[in-house]
Amino acid sequence: MKSKTIQEGKALLNIPIDKKISKKLPVFYNPVMKLNRDISIILMNSLQKKEIQIALPLAGTGIRGIRFLLELKKDKIKHLYLNDYSEKAIELIKENLNLNKLKSKTKKITTLSTNDANLFLLNSKGFDYIDIDPFGTPNPFLDSAITRLSRNGILAVTATDTSALCGTYPNSCLRKYWATHNTNTIMHELGLRILIRKVQLIASQHEKALTPIFSYSKDHYMRVFFECEKSKQKTDEILKQHERINNYGPLWIGQLWDPKLTAKMLKNTQKTDKELLQFISIIAEESKIQTVGFFNIHQIVKQHKLKTIPKKEALFKEISKKYKISLTHFNPISIRSTIPINELIKTIKKLNKTKKNNET
Ligand SMILES: C[S@@+](CC[C@H](N)C(=O)[O-])C[C@H]1O[C@@H](n2cnc3c(N)ncnc32)[C@H](O)[C@@H]1O
Repeated sequence: MKSKTIQEGKALLNIPIDKKISKKLPVFYNPVMKLNRDISIILMNSLQKKEIQIALPLAGTGIRGIRFLLELKKDKIKHLYLNDYSEKAIELIKENLNLNKLKSKTKKITTLSTNDANLFLLNSKGFDYIDIDPFGTPNPFLDSAITRLSRNGILAVTATDTSALCGTYPNSCLRKYWATHNTNTIMHELGLRILIRKVQLIASQHEKALTPIFSYSKDHYMRVFFECEKSKQKTDEILKQHERINNYGPLWIGQLWDPKLTAKMLKNTQKTDKELLQFISIIAEESKIQTVGFFNIHQIVKQHKLKTIPKKEALFKEISKKYKISLTHFNPISIRSTIPINELIKTIKKLNKTKKNNET
């Protein structure tokens, strides 16, 4: 099979190519997930933690691991474990470590293995950071990852089965995530909260309290970083924050982001990377508000027959006189705000009236 060399972050990567990028390739490199990997690096570099034992049980091409070796601060990695059940993947990782001149340099701190991810995890002594990044649902790997997550470890979870999480297939959501959901205007946020609760339920069996410190929904996937605390009492507190919202759920109603960490991540984002900078900037604003759900202005205008969609600047100016307001990364035509819905409708009516008066 043909291959080519690409660059992502500071890493060079040899990847197999076909006419189309597809999961049928022996090892699959997904360029869309660059932002996912960028965020992992920024988050890790923004945490106080040092000397971390890192596990990538589903390592794929190794791009995430190689970028960790090249881009994480010097004292971050104690040991990096890269595992994938595909021998081709591990061969490719070796080749790519060589390509980046890392093979001999990182020999002592890097271990490669070709095991089933669950066996790899359960046969280990445990890790401070585990990244579950599968095709589809993370479900098959949650229990073993949480079993081997250290007392104050970080668990990163990606889910690409967004149609189940967002309620396009309600039965699938119920079967896989033990929650009721149907498509709606805030389905991406509710889907993310349903995923968080599911992971927390698995963790509660191990008396591990998992609090989301940074989470988001983008393109075809959802992503959550949890911080673990081994404590019965903390686990009980997590479970108290599972509720139904508008008959959907149960879902997590607590924080999606640690605002201090998010602010630090924003500071650590390269100003030249416009897409990433804009993405984290919006989340940094949202993290100061932390409401459950947001307002889709177009839908509200339509539903309440308010005729005109107000200008964003005018809406922000008016609402911020009394309430918190920000954009939301979940949807470009929506706002997150502490304003009650009836007040929001009144505000839109008022702005429309002012606009009409100004025009006549
Ligand atoms: C989405 S890719 C991983 C991408 C990678 N984490 C990255 O950032 O580029 C999923 C990988 O998981 C591997 N895989 C799937 N099921 C597995 C299992 N049960 N045990 C070990 N590896 C598995 C596949 O071979 C594939 O390489």
